[in-house]
Amino acid sequence: MNLTLEKQLTLKIERIFETLGFDPALSLLKPSDRPDLSDFQCNGALALAKTLKQNPRLIGEAIAKQLQQDETIDFVSVDGPGFVNIKLKNAFIAKTMNNMASDERLNCPLTSQPKTIVMDFGGPNVAKALHVGHLRSAVIGESIRRILAFVGHKVISDVHFGDWGTPMGMILSEIILKDGDLSKVSSYNIDDISEFYKKANIRCKEDEKAKETARQITAELQNGNQEYFKAWQHLRSVSIKAVKANYDELEAHFDLWLGESDAHDMCSEIVKMCEKKGLSEVDDGATIIRLEEKNKPMPPAILVKSDGGYGYQVTDIATIKMRVDDLKADEIIYVVDKRQSLHFEQVFEVSKLLGLSEHTLLEHVGFGTVNGKDGKPFKTRDGGVMNLNDLIELSKDKVRSSMPKENEVQGYDKNRIEKLVSQVAMAAIKFQDLKNPVQSGYVFELDDFAKFDGKTGPYIQYAIARINSIIRKASSNNLLEDDILIETNDERDLALKLTLFENAVFRAAKNKEPSIIADYAYNLAQLFSSFYNSCPIMGAETKQVAQSRLKLARLVRDTLRLSLYLLGIEAPEEMLKSNN
Ligand code: ARG
Repeated sequence: MNLTLEKQLTLKIERIFETLGFDPALSLLKPSDRPDLSDFQCNGALALAKTLKQNPRLIGEAIAKQLQQDETIDFVSVDGPGFVNIKLKNAFIAKTMNNMASDERLNCPLTSQPKTIVMDFGGPNVAKALHVGHLRSAVIGESIRRILAFVGHKVISDVHFGDWGTPMGMILSEIILKDGDLSKVSSYNIDDISEFYKKANIRCKEDEKAKETARQITAELQNGNQEYFKAWQHLRSVSIKAVKANYDELEAHFDLWLGESDAHDMCSEIVKMCEKKGLSEVDDGATIIRLEEKNKPMPPAILVKSDGGYGYQVTDIATIKMRVDDLKADEIIYVVDKRQSLHFEQVFEVSKLLGLSEHTLLEHVGFGTVNGKDGKPFKTRDGGVMNLNDLIELSKDKVRSSMPKENEVQGYDKNRIEKLVSQVAMAAIKFQDLKNPVQSGYVFELDDFAKFDGKTGPYIQYAIARINSIIRKASSNNLLEDDILIETNDERDLALKLTLFENAVFRAAKNKEPSIIADYAYNLAQLFSSFYNSCPIMGAETKQVAQSRLKLARLVRDTLRLSLYLLGIEAPEEMLKSNN
């Protein structure tokens, strides 16, 4: 396995610490905060000073003295209270670059502690078309899924279909109201079903009796009424088909298509477990668990509602038990809107009380909302919720208008243009989302998000396509890659950035934060641009330099491509721009 610069340097420092009698766990090497001064910095002296009660500068100097003897290091200085700043020799950087260029994983090792991680994202619901609120769960979830799998975990993704709550009874009762019975259900398609749901939603808000009927039907469905069950199966399969098409377009991958309904039998077991442990009580006809308040009010978790139906909370608790028992999950990650954080706190607390998750880490990766310019959740012009399909179409229109028309470019017919339009539009949508920290919301920007300059997905796709074209040109001029040499500052900066790819990937995996990779890719693409401005390839002073730069460019391309893959974004071989 090839090691990154950071890893190689860490090993060297750990060895020095051992020689000096220091705890090697405190070596604390990191990329420099002051790239103008150094490449890496070791902050170990400050930590050691506290435990050893010694002057950190003296400790720093002892470390620096040893480091200076290393032939791969250009110079070492001790700055401020005891930071050890390290600058590496160009030859050492070049050697690592050559290793990286011949490694498919670009010097990213596999994790030494692989886990089985169940990822719960998507969270679509029967009869509801995916809307802009579902975008982030799919986009962030898929990126985290790819990142965790890439670093070597076994990831099992489950869409956790919302197919068992009161909306089911609402739709069924709306159909009965219109048709008199459920005999026509199998002829209804997704648009019909969504329409029924919309009407039912309005009716149940206005009419207490309609709400009661819907509740009743839901409870009967859950208790095994065959007529309802058959009709429900149709609603479910039609809805799944519709959202599958959406997720395919978003390239979000789910290993499992289970739903809340699949947890039904386990729900009764959970209720029994809670009773047996004396955790639950009956309150106003509902079975609940009172939870301890920590720093804020903690409402009780509801196991069985007063109408006898199972609610959202118990379904999630039951699903945890299934994921632990059947899938042997070491970790379960929920990528769900952060407005549901109280729900997850309650669910996690009950599962702890029940001992369901003693060896399983439960984590809610809560994300902020996609907002409009007014800072409120993104809406259509007429104030409705923006459908995901419409949002994608809108983005494609925008991208299409910046591209040449069919047959204006050789080899591009309508299908090929459309494929490119879709790749670029999806990159624009996803990158706009993923460049923001998961926690924060963002304003959906329809003007600049698909531009080829600025911090956008298409900008990075464009950088990749540009390098592809350089490689094609080199190849038609019979120029081949050869060993990377680092001579100019631009080459050096670019190479150092490349060595930090592994650092970005592992931080993103640790923090479940794709924006770290988005930032990294953007900065790398920018650095490439300044490198290419000052370091020509075809016009390099010697053939050897040209061959070295060609290899460096190819490595940048591979790194950008893998970064985009980890963000769930495709990299087209070529990009097109219209002339007007
Ligand atoms: N279907 C839910 C909703 O639309 C989201 C499901 C999230 N996952 C979960 N295990 N609760 O709000």
